Amino acid sequence: MSTDTNADADADAESTSNCGASSDTSEASTDRSSSCGASSSSDDSSSSKCGASSSSASSSSSCGTSSSDDESSNEKEVGATVDDFDAEPGKLSAVGLGPGHPEGMTDRAKSALLEAEHIVGYTTYIDLIPDEITAEADELYDTPMCGEVSRTEEAIDRALAGNDVAIVGSGDPNVYALGGLALEILESKGATASMVDFEAVPGVPAAQSCAARLGAPLVNDTVSISLSDHLVPMPEIESRLHAAAKESFTITIYNPWSRKRRENFEKACEILLAHRDEDTPVGIVHGAGREDEQVLITELGELEELGEDEIIDMTTTIVVGNEDTYVWDDRMVTPRGYETKYDY
Ligand SMILES: C[S@@+](CC[C@H](N)C(=O)[O-])C[C@H]1O[C@@H](n2cnc3c(N)ncnc32)[C@H](O)[C@@H]1O
Repeated sequence: MSTDTNADADADAESTSNCGASSDTSEASTDRSSSCGASSSSDDSSSSKCGASSSSASSSSSCGTSSSDDESSNEKEVGATVDDFDAEPGKLSAVGLGPGHPEGMTDRAKSALLEAEHIVGYTTYIDLIPDEITAEADELYDTPMCGEVSRTEEAIDRALAGNDVAIVGSGDPNVYALGGLALEILESKGATASMVDFEAVPGVPAAQSCAARLGAPLVNDTVSISLSDHLVPMPEIESRLHAAAKESFTITIYNPWSRKRRENFEKACEILLAHRDEDTPVGIVHGAGREDEQVLITELGELEELGEDEIIDMTTTIVVGNEDTYVWDDRMVTPRGYETKYDY
Protein backbone atom coordinates (compact mmCIF):
# COMPACT_ATOMS: atom_id res chain seq x y z
CA MET A 1 0.00 0.00 0.00
CA SER A 2 1.29 3.43 -0.78
CA THR A 3 0.99 6.58 1.25
CA ASP A 4 0.78 9.85 -0.56
CA THR A 5 2.48 11.81 2.14
CA ASN A 6 2.52 15.00 0.18
CA ALA A 7 -1.17 15.14 0.01
CA ASP A 8 -2.10 14.00 3.45
CA ALA A 9 -4.66 15.91 5.36
CA ASP A 10 -8.37 15.96 5.48
CA ALA A 11 -9.82 17.87 2.66
CA ASP A 12 -10.75 20.82 4.78
CA ALA A 13 -7.09 21.46 5.09
CA GLU A 14 -6.36 21.24 1.44
CA SER A 15 -8.85 23.33 -0.34
CA THR A 16 -6.82 26.48 -0.23
CA SER A 17 -3.85 24.77 -1.70
CA ASN A 18 -4.77 22.09 -4.11
CA CYS A 19 -8.49 21.94 -4.48
CA GLY A 20 -10.67 23.68 -6.95
CA ALA A 21 -8.73 24.23 -10.09
CA SER A 22 -6.86 21.02 -9.86
CA SER A 23 -8.15 18.50 -12.32
CA ASP A 24 -8.08 15.65 -9.87
CA THR A 25 -11.03 16.88 -7.93
CA SER A 26 -13.47 14.83 -9.88
CA GLU A 27 -14.70 12.17 -7.57
CA ALA A 28 -16.38 10.15 -10.23
CA SER A 29 -13.06 9.14 -11.63
CA THR A 30 -11.98 7.48 -8.45
CA ASP A 31 -14.90 5.38 -7.48
CA ARG A 32 -12.87 2.26 -8.06
CA SER A 33 -15.44 -0.05 -6.74
CA SER A 34 -18.34 1.75 -8.37
CA SER A 35 -21.41 1.26 -6.40
CA CYS A 36 -24.97 2.27 -6.16
CA GLY A 37 -26.49 4.38 -8.81
CA ALA A 38 -25.44 6.16 -11.89
CA SER A 39 -22.03 4.72 -12.56
CA SER A 40 -23.83 1.49 -13.11
CA SER A 41 -21.01 -0.78 -13.95
CA SER A 42 -23.34 -3.10 -12.20
CA ASP A 43 -21.45 -6.19 -12.63
CA ASP A 44 -21.62 -5.38 -8.97
CA SER A 45 -23.78 -8.19 -7.81
CA SER A 46 -22.52 -7.72 -4.28
CA SER A 47 -24.56 -6.77 -1.31
CA SER A 48 -24.39 -3.10 -2.15
CA LYS A 49 -27.72 -1.43 -1.84
CA CYS A 50 -29.00 1.83 -3.16
CA GLY A 51 -32.36 3.03 -2.12
CA ALA A 52 -32.45 6.54 -3.49
CA SER A 53 -34.98 7.29 -6.17
CA SER A 54 -33.33 7.55 -9.53
CA SER A 55 -34.07 11.21 -9.88
CA SER A 56 -31.86 11.93 -6.97
CA ALA A 57 -28.98 9.77 -7.99
CA SER A 58 -26.09 11.90 -9.04
CA SER A 59 -23.91 11.70 -12.04
CA SER A 60 -20.87 11.18 -9.91
CA SER A 61 -21.58 7.72 -8.87
CA SER A 62 -23.75 6.64 -6.29
CA CYS A 63 -26.41 6.76 -3.71
CA GLY A 64 -27.91 10.12 -4.38
CA THR A 65 -25.14 12.56 -3.61
CA SER A 66 -25.42 16.15 -4.73
CA SER A 67 -24.81 16.55 -8.36
CA SER A 68 -21.60 18.48 -8.16
CA ASP A 69 -18.38 17.08 -6.85
CA ASP A 70 -16.48 20.14 -7.94
CA GLU A 71 -15.03 21.96 -4.96
CA SER A 72 -15.58 25.24 -6.75
CA SER A 73 -19.30 24.74 -6.28
CA ASN A 74 -18.65 24.91 -2.54
CA GLU A 75 -20.77 21.78 -2.32
CA LYS A 76 -23.63 23.73 -0.87
CA GLU A 77 -26.39 21.45 -1.97
CA VAL A 78 -27.35 18.25 -0.34
CA GLY A 79 -28.84 15.73 -2.77
CA ALA A 80 -31.11 12.94 -1.64
CA THR A 81 -33.14 13.34 1.52
CA VAL A 82 -34.15 10.61 3.85
CA ASP A 83 -37.45 10.24 1.99
CA ASP A 84 -35.60 9.11 -1.14
CA PHE A 85 -34.53 5.86 0.52
CA ASP A 86 -36.81 2.88 1.01
CA ALA A 87 -34.39 0.53 2.69
CA GLU A 88 -33.88 -0.13 6.38
CA PRO A 89 -30.82 2.08 7.04
CA GLY A 90 -27.46 0.51 7.81
CA LYS A 91 -24.94 1.72 10.36
CA LEU A 92 -22.65 4.74 9.91
CA SER A 93 -19.33 4.96 11.76
CA ALA A 94 -16.82 7.82 11.57
CA VAL A 95 -13.58 6.00 12.23
CA GLY A 96 -10.29 7.58 13.26
CA LEU A 97 -7.26 5.71 11.91
CA GLY A 98 -4.70 7.31 14.23
CA PRO A 99 -1.34 8.46 12.91
CA GLY A 100 -1.08 6.07 10.00
CA HIS A 101 0.58 2.81 10.95
CA PRO A 102 -1.49 -0.30 11.75
CA GLU A 103 -0.14 -0.52 15.32
CA GLY A 104 -1.39 3.02 15.89
CA MET A 105 -5.00 2.03 15.17
CA THR A 106 -7.21 1.13 18.08
CA ASP A 107 -8.74 -2.34 18.22
CA ARG A 108 -12.16 -0.69 18.14
CA ALA A 109 -11.25 1.14 14.91
CA LYS A 110 -10.07 -2.11 13.35
CA SER A 111 -13.22 -3.95 14.32
CA ALA A 112 -15.45 -1.08 13.16
CA LEU A 113 -13.77 -1.27 9.76
CA LEU A 114 -14.11 -5.04 9.64
CA GLU A 115 -17.80 -4.71 10.46
CA ALA A 116 -18.35 -2.17 7.67
CA GLU A 117 -19.60 -3.31 4.28
CA HIS A 118 -18.47 -0.07 2.64
CA ILE A 119 -15.42 2.00 3.56
CA VAL A 120 -15.39 5.60 2.33
CA GLY A 121 -12.51 8.06 2.53
CA TYR A 122 -9.84 10.24 1.04
CA THR A 123 -7.52 8.02 -1.02
CA THR A 124 -4.52 8.54 1.24
CA TYR A 125 -6.47 7.37 4.26
CA ILE A 126 -7.93 4.34 2.52
CA ASP A 127 -4.36 3.44 1.60
CA LEU A 128 -3.37 3.56 5.26
CA ILE A 129 -5.81 0.78 6.17
CA PRO A 130 -4.17 -2.66 6.36
CA ASP A 131 -4.93 -4.87 3.34
CA GLU A 132 -6.43 -7.61 5.48
CA ILE A 133 -9.12 -5.14 6.56
CA THR A 134 -9.91 -3.60 3.17
CA ALA A 135 -10.07 -7.10 1.68
CA GLU A 136 -13.07 -7.82 3.90
CA ALA A 137 -15.10 -4.82 2.67
CA ASP A 138 -17.64 -5.24 -0.10
CA GLU A 139 -16.77 -1.81 -1.47
CA LEU A 140 -14.12 0.86 -1.07
CA TYR A 141 -15.03 4.36 -2.18
CA ASP A 142 -11.98 6.58 -2.23
CA THR A 143 -11.64 10.07 -3.59
CA PRO A 144 -8.67 12.41 -3.91
CA MET A 145 -8.32 15.39 -1.64
CA CYS A 146 -11.20 17.88 -1.53
CA GLY A 147 -14.82 17.00 -2.01
CA GLU A 148 -15.14 16.37 1.71
CA VAL A 149 -18.83 17.30 1.77
CA SER A 150 -19.77 15.11 -1.17
CA ARG A 151 -17.64 12.27 0.19
CA THR A 152 -19.37 12.48 3.55
CA GLU A 153 -22.74 12.64 1.87
CA GLU A 154 -21.80 9.62 -0.19
CA ALA A 155 -21.12 7.69 3.01
CA ILE A 156 -24.44 8.80 4.50
CA ASP A 157 -26.43 7.92 1.41
CA ARG A 158 -24.88 4.48 1.35
CA ALA A 159 -25.89 4.00 4.98
CA LEU A 160 -29.42 5.28 4.33
CA ALA A 161 -29.59 2.84 1.44
CA GLY A 162 -29.06 -0.03 3.85
CA ASN A 163 -25.30 -0.58 3.92
CA ASP A 164 -23.08 -0.60 7.00
CA VAL A 165 -20.63 2.17 6.23
CA ALA A 166 -17.41 3.47 7.75
CA ILE A 167 -16.08 6.89 6.77
CA VAL A 168 -12.42 7.15 7.67
CA GLY A 169 -9.94 9.89 8.44
CA SER A 170 -6.53 10.22 10.04
CA GLY A 171 -6.21 10.76 13.76
CA ASP A 172 -9.56 11.22 15.45
CA PRO A 173 -12.93 12.00 13.80
CA ASN A 174 -13.48 14.83 16.28
CA VAL A 175 -10.29 16.72 15.48
CA TYR A 176 -10.57 18.89 12.36
CA ALA A 177 -12.33 15.97 10.75
CA LEU A 178 -15.59 14.70 9.36
CA GLY A 179 -17.39 13.52 12.50
CA GLY A 180 -19.34 16.75 12.91
CA LEU A 181 -19.98 17.16 9.20
CA ALA A 182 -21.56 13.70 9.09
CA LEU A 183 -24.04 14.67 11.80
CA GLU A 184 -24.78 18.03 10.16
CA ILE A 185 -25.49 16.41 6.80
CA LEU A 186 -27.62 13.69 8.37
CA GLU A 187 -29.70 16.42 9.98
CA SER A 188 -30.00 18.38 6.75
CA LYS A 189 -31.32 15.27 5.02
CA GLY A 190 -34.11 14.95 7.55
CA ALA A 191 -32.50 11.82 8.99
CA THR A 192 -31.34 11.26 12.56
CA ALA A 193 -28.14 9.93 14.06
CA SER A 194 -30.07 7.10 15.69
CA MET A 195 -31.53 6.07 12.36
CA VAL A 196 -28.05 5.06 11.16
CA ASP A 197 -26.81 4.15 14.65
CA PHE A 198 -24.10 6.80 14.19
CA GLU A 199 -20.89 6.14 16.07
CA ALA A 200 -17.68 8.17 16.26
CA VAL A 201 -14.85 5.70 16.73
CA PRO A 202 -11.90 7.52 18.29
CA GLY A 203 -8.34 7.41 17.01
CA VAL A 204 -5.10 8.88 18.31
CA PRO A 205 -5.01 12.53 17.17
CA ALA A 206 -1.92 13.92 15.44
CA ALA A 207 -1.20 16.22 18.38
CA GLN A 208 -0.79 13.23 20.69
CA SER A 209 1.11 11.07 18.16
CA CYS A 210 3.47 13.96 17.52
CA ALA A 211 3.84 14.85 21.20
CA ALA A 212 4.88 11.26 21.86
CA ARG A 213 7.70 11.65 19.36
CA LEU A 214 8.86 14.87 21.02
CA GLY A 215 8.91 13.74 24.65
CA ALA A 216 6.21 15.16 26.91
CA PRO A 217 5.30 18.66 25.69
CA LEU A 218 1.52 18.52 26.12
CA VAL A 219 1.05 17.58 29.75
CA ASN A 220 -0.39 20.94 30.73
CA ASP A 221 -3.14 23.13 29.26
CA THR A 222 -3.00 23.06 25.48
CA VAL A 223 -4.76 24.81 22.61
CA SER A 224 -4.95 23.53 19.03
CA ILE A 225 -5.08 25.93 16.11
CA SER A 226 -5.45 25.05 12.43
CA LEU A 227 -3.86 27.44 9.95
CA SER A 228 -6.20 26.30 7.19
CA ASP A 229 -8.21 29.31 6.10
CA HIS A 230 -10.53 27.28 3.91
CA LEU A 231 -13.33 27.30 6.48
CA VAL A 232 -12.17 29.89 9.03
CA PRO A 233 -11.02 33.28 7.70
CA MET A 234 -7.40 34.19 8.41
CA PRO A 235 -8.21 37.25 10.58
CA GLU A 236 -10.16 34.94 12.90
CA ILE A 237 -7.29 32.44 12.98
CA GLU A 238 -4.90 35.31 13.82
CA SER A 239 -7.08 36.46 16.66
CA ARG A 240 -7.29 32.90 18.08
CA LEU A 241 -3.53 32.60 17.83
CA HIS A 242 -2.99 35.90 19.65
CA ALA A 243 -5.34 34.76 22.42
CA ALA A 244 -3.60 31.40 22.81
CA ALA A 245 -0.07 32.78 22.59
CA LYS A 246 -0.51 35.45 25.20
CA GLU A 247 -1.84 32.94 27.73
CA SER A 248 0.26 30.12 29.12
CA PHE A 249 -0.87 27.40 26.74
CA THR A 250 1.20 24.91 24.85
CA ILE A 251 0.00 25.37 21.26
CA THR A 252 -0.36 22.63 18.66
CA ILE A 253 -0.54 23.90 15.12
CA TYR A 254 -2.34 21.77 12.57
CA ASN A 255 -2.31 22.35 8.80
CA PRO A 256 0.74 24.59 9.16
CA TRP A 257 1.93 25.06 5.62
CA SER A 258 1.11 24.60 1.97
CA ARG A 259 2.22 26.50 -1.09
CA LYS A 260 -0.83 28.73 -0.92
CA ARG A 261 -0.76 28.94 2.84
CA ARG A 262 2.83 30.15 3.12
CA GLU A 263 1.72 33.62 4.23
CA ASN A 264 -0.49 32.16 6.96
CA PHE A 265 2.50 30.34 8.34
CA GLU A 266 4.65 33.46 8.28
CA LYS A 267 1.92 35.45 10.00
CA ALA A 268 1.54 32.74 12.64
CA CYS A 269 5.29 32.86 13.39
CA GLU A 270 5.08 36.64 13.70
CA ILE A 271 2.18 36.42 16.16
CA LEU A 272 3.86 33.75 18.27
CA LEU A 273 7.03 35.83 18.48
CA ALA A 274 5.01 38.86 19.58
CA HIS A 275 4.06 36.95 22.75
CA ARG A 276 6.81 34.38 23.34
CA ASP A 277 10.61 34.42 23.60
CA GLU A 278 12.71 33.50 20.60
CA ASP A 279 14.19 30.57 22.51
CA THR A 280 10.80 29.00 23.28
CA PRO A 281 11.13 25.29 22.42
CA VAL A 282 9.23 24.19 19.32
CA GLY A 283 8.75 20.59 18.19
CA ILE A 284 8.07 19.76 14.56
CA VAL A 285 6.82 16.33 13.55
CA HIS A 286 6.24 15.40 9.95
CA GLY A 287 4.36 12.20 9.15
CA ALA A 288 4.21 10.74 12.65
CA GLY A 289 4.00 6.97 12.33
CA ARG A 290 4.52 7.08 8.57
CA GLU A 291 7.47 5.87 6.53
CA ASP A 292 8.75 9.40 6.00
CA GLU A 293 8.49 10.52 9.62
CA GLN A 294 10.81 13.38 10.60
CA VAL A 295 11.20 14.96 14.02
CA LEU A 296 12.96 18.20 14.90
CA ILE A 297 13.17 20.18 18.13
CA THR A 298 14.11 23.79 17.54
CA GLU A 299 13.39 27.29 18.87
CA LEU A 300 10.62 29.69 17.98
CA GLY A 301 13.08 32.16 16.46
CA GLU A 302 14.06 29.52 13.87
CA LEU A 303 10.54 28.45 12.94
CA GLU A 304 9.71 30.82 10.10
CA GLU A 305 12.81 29.88 8.15
CA LEU A 306 11.92 26.21 8.44
CA GLY A 307 8.67 26.92 6.60
CA GLU A 308 10.56 26.37 3.35
CA ASP A 309 12.06 23.10 4.59
CA GLU A 310 10.43 19.81 3.61
CA ILE A 311 9.81 18.93 7.25
CA ILE A 312 6.94 21.42 7.33
CA ASP A 313 4.07 20.66 5.02
CA MET A 314 0.49 19.42 5.15
CA THR A 315 1.43 16.30 7.08
CA THR A 316 3.21 18.20 9.83
CA THR A 317 2.08 19.17 13.31
CA ILE A 318 4.01 21.83 15.24
CA VAL A 319 4.10 22.02 19.03
CA VAL A 320 5.01 25.41 20.52
CA GLY A 321 6.00 25.19 24.17
CA ASN A 322 4.68 27.44 26.91
CA GLU A 323 6.98 29.60 29.05
CA ASP A 324 7.87 26.63 31.28
CA THR A 325 8.66 24.18 28.49
CA TYR A 326 12.30 23.17 28.24
CA VAL A 327 14.44 20.72 26.32
CA TRP A 328 16.20 17.97 28.23
CA ASP A 329 18.16 15.17 26.59
CA ASP A 330 16.56 15.87 23.19
CA ARG A 331 13.06 15.77 24.65
CA MET A 332 10.59 18.60 25.08
CA VAL A 333 9.28 18.72 28.63
CA THR A 334 6.36 20.82 29.82
CA PRO A 335 6.08 20.61 33.59
CA ARG A 336 2.66 19.71 34.91
CA GLY A 337 3.30 21.65 38.12
CA TYR A 338 4.21 18.81 40.48
CA GLU A 339 7.47 20.61 41.24
CA THR A 340 5.51 23.34 42.99
CA LYS A 341 4.12 20.84 45.51
CA TYR A 342 6.67 18.07 45.77
CA ASP A 343 10.40 17.77 46.20
CA TYR A 344 12.07 15.51 43.64
C1 LIG B 1 -7.48 18.06 8.71
S1 LIG B 1 -6.36 17.71 9.96
C2 LIG B 1 -6.87 16.12 10.49
C3 LIG B 1 -6.50 15.87 11.91
C4 LIG B 1 -6.85 14.48 12.39
N1 LIG B 1 -8.28 14.24 12.39
C5 LIG B 1 -6.28 14.20 13.78
O1 LIG B 1 -7.03 13.86 14.69
O2 LIG B 1 -5.06 14.28 13.92
C6 LIG B 1 -4.91 17.34 9.06
C7 LIG B 1 -3.69 17.81 9.82
O3 LIG B 1 -3.41 16.89 10.87
C8 LIG B 1 -2.03 16.83 11.07
N2 LIG B 1 -1.57 15.44 10.85
C9 LIG B 1 -2.33 14.41 10.40
N3 LIG B 1 -1.61 13.29 10.37
C10 LIG B 1 -0.38 13.60 10.82
C11 LIG B 1 0.81 12.85 11.03
N4 LIG B 1 0.86 11.55 10.77
N5 LIG B 1 1.91 13.51 11.50
C12 LIG B 1 1.88 14.82 11.78
N6 LIG B 1 0.76 15.58 11.62
C13 LIG B 1 -0.34 14.98 11.13
C14 LIG B 1 -1.35 17.80 10.10
O4 LIG B 1 -1.23 19.05 10.77
C15 LIG B 1 -2.41 17.87 9.02
O5 LIG B 1 -2.30 19.07 8.28
